Amino acid sequence: MALYLSKKKRPAKEEKMLKISWPAYDGVFNRETMLDLQEFFSKKLIKSLDYCIAKGKEANVYRATTPSGEYLAVKIYRLHTPSFVKMYEYLEGDQRFLKVQKSKPKIIFSWTKKEFSNLKYLSEIKVPVPKPISFKKNILIMEFLGENGIPYSALAQIGPTKPKEQKEFLIEQIEKMYQNQIVHADLSEYNILIDDQANRLFIIDCAQAVLTSHPKANEWYNRDKENIERYFKKFLNNSKQES
Ligand SMILES: Nc1ncnc2c1ncn2[C@@H]1O[C@H](COP(=O)(O)OP(=O)(O)OP(=O)(O)O)[C@@H](O)[C@H]1O
Ligand SMILES: [Mg+2]
Repeated sequence: MALYLSKKKRPAKEEKMLKISWPAYDGVFNRETMLDLQEFFSKKLIKSLDYCIAKGKEANVYRATTPSGEYLAVKIYRLHTPSFVKMYEYLEGDQRFLKVQKSKPKIIFSWTKKEFSNLKYLSEIKVPVPKPISFKKNILIMEFLGENGIPYSALAQIGPTKPKEQKEFLIEQIEKMYQNQIVHADLSEYNILIDDQANRLFIIDCAQAVLTSHPKANEWYNRDKENIERYFKKFLNNSKQES
């Protein structure tokens, strides 16, 4: 009896080894994600992943550079996140995503697609969000919000530059979204970026945004508004007059 199988019949041992021995570096770079990411390099959408802007529970966000030297933001969702149950709640009540399968990777892929669709729609109705560029499975590529390669800070980190005006602006955005049948559903000072030089605000983290037909849309619409009212209260009490 032959001790060894012919080369042809041998199982792809290296393949198996690779799968087993390549843990998800940084929590997101597992083998599949690396291969999917490679596609964006091959298509010349990005030339390099430069650094990690932020690590979250559900995703990491990286700055990338394009072949022409512009910057993009790459959000990579973890395939193993503790938030599956929450994600499913936001997906299943949304008529655009009714047929989502309950397997964990499928939920994450739908979640990524949902963020892409939401950013596209919100850009169209002129809500200031990062413009979506592309997505594949758990990877979302979007406009980089920052100056000279440095990402803008979250509003929570540096506070508003024009509290009264900026609060009104955000309430207007929430209402505009509602009139256009969409609710952000996780709006707070942590999901707003600020360009403090130009006093501009941007709304980010839009995966959980739902259509107003979602059974909880009204509850989440009110919560978004309350979060903004609560956050700005302390700035408005201290500064009755604002330039
Ligand atoms: N388009 C962008 N341009 C620049 N920075 C960005 C962009 N999108 C996200 N970021 C940065 O990445 C951080 C996390 O982004 P986001 O809130 O979308 O991810 P998340 O994983 O849902 O985070 P968390 O769990 O903390 O809410 C933001 O606070 C911001 O600093
Ligand atoms: Mg966030």
